[in-house]
Amino acid sequence: MAIVFHEASKVFHLYNQDISYLIRIMENGQLENLYYGKALRDRDDFSYMHEEAMRSQMSINVPEPGLLSMQYTRQEYPSYGTGDYRSPAFTVLQENGSRIVNYEYTAYEILKGKKSLEPLPATYVEDEEEAATLEVTLHDQVTDTDLILSYTIYEHYPVITRNSRFVHKGSEKIVLERALSASVEFIDTDYELMHLSGAWSRERYVKSQKLETGIQGIQSLNGTCSGAEFNPFLALKRPHTTEYQGEVYGFNFVYSGNFLAQAETSTFGMTRILMGIHPECFSWELKQGETFQTPEVVMVYSDQGLNKMSQVYHRLYRTRLMRGRWRDQARPILLNNWEATYFDFDEEKILNIAKKAKEVGVELFVLDDGWFGARNDDHRGLGDWYVNLDKLPDGISGLSRKIEEMGLKFGLWVELEMANKDSDLYRAHPDWLISVPDRFESHARHQYVLDFSRKEVVDHIHEMVAKVIRESSISYIKWDMNRYMTEPYSKGTSASEQGKVMHKYILGVYDLYTRLINEFPDILFESCASGGARFDAGMLYFAPQTWTSDDTDANERTKIQYGTSMVYPIVSMGSHVSAVPNHQLHRETSLATRANVAYFGTFGYELDLNLLADKEIEQVKEQIKFMKEYRELIQIDGDFYRLKSPFEGNETAWMVVSQDKKNAVAGYYQSLNQVNGTWIRLKLDGLCPDALYEITYDTTFDTPVDPEMMAVYGVKIGSDPVKTYQAYGTELMYAGIPINRDLLNRKSMDFSSLLFMITQVG
Ligand code: GLA
Repeated sequence: MAIVFHEASKVFHLYNQDISYLIRIMENGQLENLYYGKALRDRDDFSYMHEEAMRSQMSINVPEPGLLSMQYTRQEYPSYGTGDYRSPAFTVLQENGSRIVNYEYTAYEILKGKKSLEPLPATYVEDEEEAATLEVTLHDQVTDTDLILSYTIYEHYPVITRNSRFVHKGSEKIVLERALSASVEFIDTDYELMHLSGAWSRERYVKSQKLETGIQGIQSLNGTCSGAEFNPFLALKRPHTTEYQGEVYGFNFVYSGNFLAQAETSTFGMTRILMGIHPECFSWELKQGETFQTPEVVMVYSDQGLNKMSQVYHRLYRTRLMRGRWRDQARPILLNNWEATYFDFDEEKILNIAKKAKEVGVELFVLDDGWFGARNDDHRGLGDWYVNLDKLPDGISGLSRKIEEMGLKFGLWVELEMANKDSDLYRAHPDWLISVPDRFESHARHQYVLDFSRKEVVDHIHEMVAKVIRESSISYIKWDMNRYMTEPYSKGTSASEQGKVMHKYILGVYDLYTRLINEFPDILFESCASGGARFDAGMLYFAPQTWTSDDTDANERTKIQYGTSMVYPIVSMGSHVSAVPNHQLHRETSLATRANVAYFGTFGYELDLNLLADKEIEQVKEQIKFMKEYRELIQIDGDFYRLKSPFEGNETAWMVVSQDKKNAVAGYYQSLNQVNGTWIRLKLDGLCPDALYEITYDTTFDTPVDPEMMAVYGVKIGSDPVKTYQAYGTELMYAGIPINRDLLNRKSMDFSSLLFMITQVG
């Protein structure tokens, strides 16, 4: 890995064994993006890559006879108004009403390692040899402002992270009306734009569309979160790129609030990617001496398909974004009471559910919504973070002690950023809501957003929740957030500062997380937002797992988890086995399939186990035993491979392979049974070609089956059907595991699934 500056040609080259990124200082002092992609051999002069030609209508940015025009130049951090008519990365409003700027190169610094962006979340290094950082300082003379563009390249990952910082030295006030984190330009337009989008209960479906001329993009203006509709991720992939091969560039925003991510292709064959805080509702006044730091964008390049890109995101995020005690630890198997009881519980009911959970091997009991204030339904109570003694007479302290005495850990649900109007908190502080005086206050789920841009609000909530935690034995917190922001306005700040409120809100959330993590470093935090509306890298910095979706139907979950895995590690995905008929879709799926999907996540249960039949309880015990054996591989050690996409047909398949390639586990899922169907050939990936493996089929069935079927789905040795056989890595990857679909159809009704355990034996 190296960052070099070639003085004579004025080119910075950031490279490692996989990638190169080239930046040139142009004649006008601004920065040009010369190249980003597969590693180039270093040389003194790459400046021939600059394109320049006379064109009609061209606005020229340097004295004659120069031909430099911003319209046709690929730039690092473009502004509007000096000849480039595409979307800019930033806009600075000045006292005289002008928005014209000229940030020229003044200095650079190459640093070992990577700077922290706190209070913003960001990837980090543990050892300064792991990465190198280039900071280029540009200066605008008229406003006397520095703009510092920061680039980090990791030694062992095809990753570049970017952010930008404004440092205002001048005496006039300036207003940042737009301050995105990164702009990257590509030398052609032959890409598909891929992103993850959906809605509540169908989050992060994989969408791909051919890049068209003009602007296409995704965003969140939700205020409180990155959102269920669009995830702060997009990728440019070649049309022929698949999971296994081809080029793809990923862009992920390490932020949990409003974002804009767009691709703009010009009619001159250029593609510009922009990513950052959404400029709508954003304006940031800077006085002399003040700075503004943008959040981080993490860019991953892969020339080995989408799987490679995802594996890089997974490993980087698991080891250099997540923090704390739980970062490197497999997660406890939990039982959450939400779908088991909703608001309708008392201590006896809870202890009864917990007792059964303990019996089957569950390790953590989580008490969800409904334990505080007057919270008997979703109309009231939010904001009152003290226990409801009618339901839990011994308080959370008493209940948590009783649960711990059973041999389980105890976890608690909170939704700290919200208040119902029917709450003591609102009655005492009606002005603490985000809303505009004299205007209607929109509500959602009967609740309102607390103004976390105000420190006194965060202080107050912190005090209340920390007290509950201090007085009880709490090992896990599920921090929920169940509505988007409306009427964004803070009654605690001046008119000229209102454009800061939405960003400050997110900083307030990060602040409260920081306080709680520092005081309670052993607690495992899981973030949540109406299911999966806050599944982003910003959150993972604070909470190393996220509730993936309120939709716990196994078949739907194959899509949601498949899409989420595009960026986010398996260990970050909250995944539970819930009751049937499923509460969201009213669909029946087998207990085996529900677990086979949930294994590829944090794994837990969300139902009252007392309602299961004895033989189901036995099955649950087996499932928990299996997960305890395999969770280290699935969640911590392994690389995840997507094998078959639920967005392309009737089946899904994925697998995890250990770093040393000695162990793997694969899941195959069929949505609808197929009559007289073809055999399946499940081709695995990531194994050692020459190693001999033993393959074992899972034999969990919901209904009794004849022994021959139990024994085999496809493979026979001689004339004997087997449930275990041996094959080389080459066979498993190139010929595949043969599966008789007829037998699979009989395994359960629709939505059947298979699990394969693969162990190297030679
Ligand atoms: C949200 C969460 C659920 C549950 C409920 C409780 O919808 O996603 O898991 O915690 O809130 O109200």
